[in-house]
Amino acid sequence: MHTQRLEGKVALITGAARGIGKAFAKRYLAEGAKVIIADIDFEAASNTALALGEHCIAQVLDVTDQTSIDDCVTHSISKWGKIDILINNAALFTASPFIDITRTDYDKVFAVNLAGPVFMMQAVAKHMIERGEGGKIINMASQAGRRGEGLVAVYCATKAAIISVTQSAGLDLIKHGINVNAISPGVVDGEHWDGVDAFFAKHEGLKLGEKKAQVGKSVPHGRMGVAQDLTGMAVFLASSDADYIVAQTYNVDGGQWMS
Ligand SMILES: NC(=O)c1ccc[n+]([C@@H]2O[C@H](COP(=O)([O-])OP(=O)(O)OC[C@H]3O[C@@H](n4cnc5c(N)ncnc54)[C@H](O)[C@@H]3O)[C@@H](O)[C@H]2O)c1
Repeated sequence: MHTQRLEGKVALITGAARGIGKAFAKRYLAEGAKVIIADIDFEAASNTALALGEHCIAQVLDVTDQTSIDDCVTHSISKWGKIDILINNAALFTASPFIDITRTDYDKVFAVNLAGPVFMMQAVAKHMIERGEGGKIINMASQAGRRGEGLVAVYCATKAAIISVTQSAGLDLIKHGINVNAISPGVVDGEHWDGVDAFFAKHEGLKLGEKKAQVGKSVPHGRMGVAQDLTGMAVFLASSDADYIVAQTYNVDGGQWMS
């Protein structure tokens, strides 16, 4: 019989109303965890939580707002008693030619993709330290954080920063038994990539779907990823099998990046 690897654990997953975060929630539930789907889109989060069953609740969260972060952590603890696992998954994608980058867009994307995870980690780590039983924190990086891309400067910079912050937080928090690590996906099909495909169609004169086909072929594995490709790593990093893994970023990208 398959052992449930996260039995009795409580996981808070940001941006889990859809996409990769939703796939994490589904898999964590199957592994015996209770899950908080925390998202700025409360309606979508509620629908997702309802569909995933009684061990799952929706919580409104704007990771750019400290009061919202504090409320989310407090409500999560009052519902399930504790938080064992945090996945910092919520992020915004943005792309534009370098000379068109606006300060407004830059500030917004850094607020969601970098300050969001930093202050989520801080709020949840405070609780984990107080509780004294350690915990697991997983940040979502990207192959976009491994190297720059001509049209994607701001998003790439936030993801490079996430890899760095995972190292620093990982080094500082391990003394409390909190393992901080990150997952670096490559190209994962879904709503997010529908938008990316449309952007490149506009800026590179491609037909809709053509960019996806191109990137799929460029992946050594031979296809784009799907959200389910990432869930095994998310379970592993949240389990006791990862107790000795500290401050690392793992590529789960079909062989696109080697480091
Ligand atoms: N899809 C890919 O190809 C890919 C590749 C590499 C890395 N990633 C990373 O994986 C993660 C998930 O990606 P996805 O494709 O599922 O994204 P998505 O855009 O489908 O979902 C992101 C979720 O975050 C939520 N969100 C946005 N702003 C928020 C805020 N301020 N507070 C709380 N929630 C907020 C959205 O409502 C949405 O539900 C992201 O960190 C992304 O950067 C994705």
